[in-house]
Amino acid sequence: MNVSEIETPAAIVDLTRLEDNIVRLQKYLDKSEISNRPHIKTHKIPEIAHMQLSQGATGITCQKLGEAEVMVQAGVRDILVPYNILGVQKLNRLIRLVRRARIGVTADSNVTISGLSAAAHEHDVSIPVMVEFDTGLKRCGVETPQLAAELAALIESSPGLQFAGLMTYPLNENTGPFVEEVRKLVEPKGIEVSCVSVGGTHCMWEAHQYREITEYRAGMYVYGDRYTLSSGAMTLEQCSFSIRSTVVSRPSRERGILDAGSKTLSSDLMGLDGHGLILEYPEAQIYALSEEHGHVEFSRCDSMPEIGEVVTILPNHCCVANNLFNEVIGVRDGQVEVVWPVQARGAVL
Ligand SMILES: Cc1ncc(COP(=O)(O)O)c(C=O)c1O
Repeated sequence: MNVSEIETPAAIVDLTRLEDNIVRLQKYLDKSEISNRPHIKTHKIPEIAHMQLSQGATGITCQKLGEAEVMVQAGVRDILVPYNILGVQKLNRLIRLVRRARIGVTADSNVTISGLSAAAHEHDVSIPVMVEFDTGLKRCGVETPQLAAELAALIESSPGLQFAGLMTYPLNENTGPFVEEVRKLVEPKGIEVSCVSVGGTHCMWEAHQYREITEYRAGMYVYGDRYTLSSGAMTLEQCSFSIRSTVVSRPSRERGILDAGSKTLSSDLMGLDGHGLILEYPEAQIYALSEEHGHVEFSRCDSMPEIGEVVTILPNHCCVANNLFNEVIGVRDGQVEVVWPVQARGAVL
């Protein structure tokens, strides 16, 4: 089928660009002697995870147990879930996963660690646990090297757990000094920081400058989006993910309506102006979104689209847009080659 025959709105992946993006980062990390553990929260598609693994990724990252369940079912055997797993239901699900694959998790409190240890001990399994630290995002993560060192020692001494290193997001200039300080505190106690795992697509090409890091988790690099473009980490020609959308109305000369609204593009602005870049009309502005309508101002464009014309939109944030689709259509040279179910979409549990 030709791309022009695809019903809209549709999520499209340019397969050549996708493959190039996977290979480009893998080669860079190989050269920098950093392990690659891509974050699959961007695509949520087992087939893409397997492409990443077959190019040399040592494992994958999933943000949620639900994503990990889909990926283990699809045959992935090494997963980091960089999240505090709390509560009996989640701990039971984690134990079931741990019996089928190597599943690492993170913790930033003794509450998380004691829950993990009780579950691991009861079920006679061993769980690798990293300590999450904060480099400035002010999300999860301990804020001092002293606390990181204390939690590392607690993990080491907790039945059923192994201290598996340090984890943060994103990579920045605070990472190195924090890691060094933790090493100074734990190494005299015989505790080794075997892995320092960091992430972020916007800063991926800086990874080689940080000698402390051993593992990289990038997510958006497979697709790219308007945010990635604005960060300078990828070029427009490298972005593989787009939304095809039809102009369904032209209520006035300068205004058009697309069949892509917040349920297609998401309303995530990522600090940008407008809700996406229309490649055929780069001067146009998607200034508002209703659920199923994109409101576009075309006044700055030299030409304006006809009703029924199909346009290509680079969304602001590819991960959330991808999560809105049941399937993603893989195209090459203008032809549909594959249709992938987004198997882990909506897996927020
Ligand atoms: C813990 C963690 N690791 C890695 C990533 C991947 O970063 P990016 O989406 O910038 O590629 C994210 C993104 O949110 C994250 O939260």
